[in-house]
Order: sequence, then structure tokens, then C-alpha cells
Amino acid sequence: MAQPTTPLPDMLNHIANSEDPEQSLQQFQAELTRFRLEYDCGMEEVATKIGNLQREFDRTHQYKPIEHVKTRLKSMESLVAKARRLDCHDLVEVREQIRDVAGIRVVCTFVEDIYRVADMLVQQPDITLLTRKDYVANPKASGYQSLHLIVSVPVYLSDRSIEVPVEIQLRTIAMDFWASLEHQIHYKYDGQVPEPLRMELREVAESAAVLDRQMGRLRDEVRSLGPTQG
Ligand code: GTP
Ligand code: MG
Repeated sequence: MAQPTTPLPDMLNHIANSEDPEQSLQQFQAELTRFRLEYDCGMEEVATKIGNLQREFDRTHQYKPIEHVKTRLKSMESLVAKARRLDCHDLVEVREQIRDVAGIRVVCTFVEDIYRVADMLVQQPDITLLTRKDYVANPKASGYQSLHLIVSVPVYLSDRSIEVPVEIQLRTIAMDFWASLEHQIHYKYDGQVPEPLRMELREVAESAAVLDRQMGRLRDEVRSLGPTQG
């Protein structure tokens, strides 16, 4: 299995070739620290918003639309690989073109929760929706389902405020189960998954969607019975 490449030296070439490499390197390191800090802050802002929704639901609605939340900052390795793929030459271009440096995954209980949570977030006045891709309504060819939002959130730093893009992936437990397994298989086969296995994955994705629909129907039935006695 091929290991991911390490194209970082590529990006650092111009430092090595500069007049004062030591100073250039320090400058680049400082820039990089600031770069990651901005995304880290943006990610935490959105995570706090989601956490607040979770708290509110827990305490006042006795209903749990959000199962769990995961945050991740893109690793340097995949950031550099993607920057290379998109032909970005500096951090300004990286900022413009890579919108998934900060990522949040929200795993919901039912399909309708995905849309409810997404709407609650997007309606907040300091959140700007940049893009929305609905792979629940239109699954990918692989079978992948999720609702993807890229939002921008303001971050207030010591000397300025900035707008930071954050990718939010919303999916059900069943969709998350599928995506994790498919990701592992994809990695094992280094992206070259044999067609029979891909076909099976598409079938399993459909079964997951059926399960989500059945669970939703059951929940509606239980709800229509009214509040529990006793
Ligand atoms: P990236 O460059 O990978 O970010 O793709 P993109 O900008 O075209 O965005 P897209 O909405 O297609 O996918 C973004 C992210 O969704 C990926 O980084 C994965 O986390 C997830 N994703 C998309 N397609 C698949 C899939 O087929 N399987 C799995 N497991 N995850 C997927
Ligand atoms: Mg991505």
C-alpha cells in the first residue's frame, strides 16, 4: 500500500532559496501558526454553537437530535497535498481555495434532524452560508450521503476580526457508520476499490437509507401515540 507523499519541502523551496533562509523560515512558521490558530478558533466558535443547541435540547426539549460531534483541523500533510493539487503557491491562495481546513462532523439521530440542525445554524445572524451540498437528497456515485455546509464565522482576535470558513458535515448514525467503513476500505485499497466491492458498498448505502426511513417512520408512530403515561 502506498504511503501518502510528503510534499512539504516543495512548499518550503522558496525559503531555502531566499536571501536569508533562517529569517524566511521563522516568518513562515509564525505565519503558519497564525493560519492554524484562525481555523482552530473558527472551528471552536461553530462547535460552541452546536454544543449550545445540544445543551438546549437536552435540558428543555428532552429530545436528542444530535448524537455526537467531532471536530478536526486538516493535518499539515493533507493540507499541503491539497494545496499542491489545487496549485496554491502561498497561504493567501490556500485560504481562498481550501475551505475544509476546519471541519465539524455532526452525527444526528434521524434524517430530519440533519436539516433542522443545519437550519438552526444557518439562521444565526453571525453565520454566513457559503455553500450547501445535499448528498442526502442526491447521494454520491459511491453511495455516500451527508449534508455538507461551508459556513463562514467571525473570529475576534487581539488586533482584528476575520471571517473563517468551516466545513460542517451532517449525517445520521447509519450514514456515519457507512462512511467510516467505506473510508477504511478506500484507504486499504489505496483508492482502487474493486468494482464488486464498490457495488456492495452502494447496496449497503441503500440499506442504510432504508433503515433511516424505517426508524423515522417508527418514531412518528410512537409520537402519534402521545405522551407516555406514568
Ligand atoms: P474534498 O477535496 O475531498 O474536500 O472534496 P470536495 O471539495 O469535492 O467536497 P465533497 O463535498 O465532495 O467532499 C468533502 C468531504 O466529504 C470529504 O473530504 C470526505 O470527508 C467526505 N466524502 C465525500 N465523498 C465521500 C465518499 O464517497 N466516501 C466517504 N467516506 N466520504 C466522502
Ligand atoms: Mg475535504
